[in-house]
Amino acid sequence: MALQWYPGHMNKAKNQVQDRLKLVDVVIEIVDARLPMSSRNPMLDSIINNKKRIIILNKSDLADNKASKKWQEYFNNQGIDTYIIDSKHINNVNSLINNIKNEVADKLSKYKNAGVKNYKVKAMCVGIPNVGKSTILNRFAGKNIAVTGNKPGVTKNQNWIKTKFDLDIIDTPGILWPKIDDEEVGLKLALTGAIKDSIFHADDVALFALRYFKEFYPEKLKKAYKVTDSDLEMETPELLLFLTKKLGMKDDFDRMSEKIMMDIRKGVLGAYTLDQVEELEYENN
Ligand code: G4P
Repeated sequence: MALQWYPGHMNKAKNQVQDRLKLVDVVIEIVDARLPMSSRNPMLDSIINNKKRIIILNKSDLADNKASKKWQEYFNNQGIDTYIIDSKHINNVNSLINNIKNEVADKLSKYKNAGVKNYKVKAMCVGIPNVGKSTILNRFAGKNIAVTGNKPGVTKNQNWIKTKFDLDIIDTPGILWPKIDDEEVGLKLALTGAIKDSIFHADDVALFALRYFKEFYPEKLKKAYKVTDSDLEMETPELLLFLTKKLGMKDDFDRMSEKIMMDIRKGVLGAYTLDQVEELEYENN
């Protein structure tokens, strides 16, 4: 399966990013903190090559705090400074901006020594749709800006977004879709609402959700649906049918599946993360 991953389309986006890369000092990669791996475009590393980069784990209010810290450490250990933020509710972006500027401190001091005053750091924000690029740019700019790269078919001129922090950000080019060559990545994206609901059946997403929460967040399932440890020992399809009946939906497991999906998406079960550093380490061993 390779949803939304058309070679021509991706090459266009890749070329657009590479063209603009020459114009910027630093790349700001934004990912959904609930999906620090699955919401990344796997081509990005090779596209941006040695360019300075930071990662923003956005939507931290929705993610499992412990997992976010582990991901931050994981990326930091790879030499990529990583920041955990909740751009929807954050008031002050000063420290984040200072951190971005620190990434290019060498360059800034070189310019300063050469007598260039007020050099504006130039950055590019990249990320798959829905991770919060517009929200973050609006925080930086202090006003409402539409990210043109989010709309397929919109002509993309070279637009610089100016901020009051001596930081200019080039408008996001092309759409860098995630590569969904693994069904589980697709299910994770579907569960958070990052991809259209029509791509997967709700019952497949709900079964995945139950399986995942049973393994990583059983307490959240127990609390939300008033089930016991022994209920959670059921096979996942059996558990779905059990919950359908328990919540008074008779045998309408489609309805229950929708409910589970929406509950998780809306945060009814609380904060969660669907990629775990431990899983990655296990795969690599
Ligand atoms: P994009 O440009 O990368 O496509 O993402 P965008 O900023 O449009 O954000 C996508 C959705 O995610 C928006 O919700 C936005 O409010 C929400 N969002 C962005 N950052 C955060 C965050 O840190 N925490 C939370 N909880 N949500 C965040 P929406 O439902 O599409 O719009 P709205 O109802 O919020 O206006």
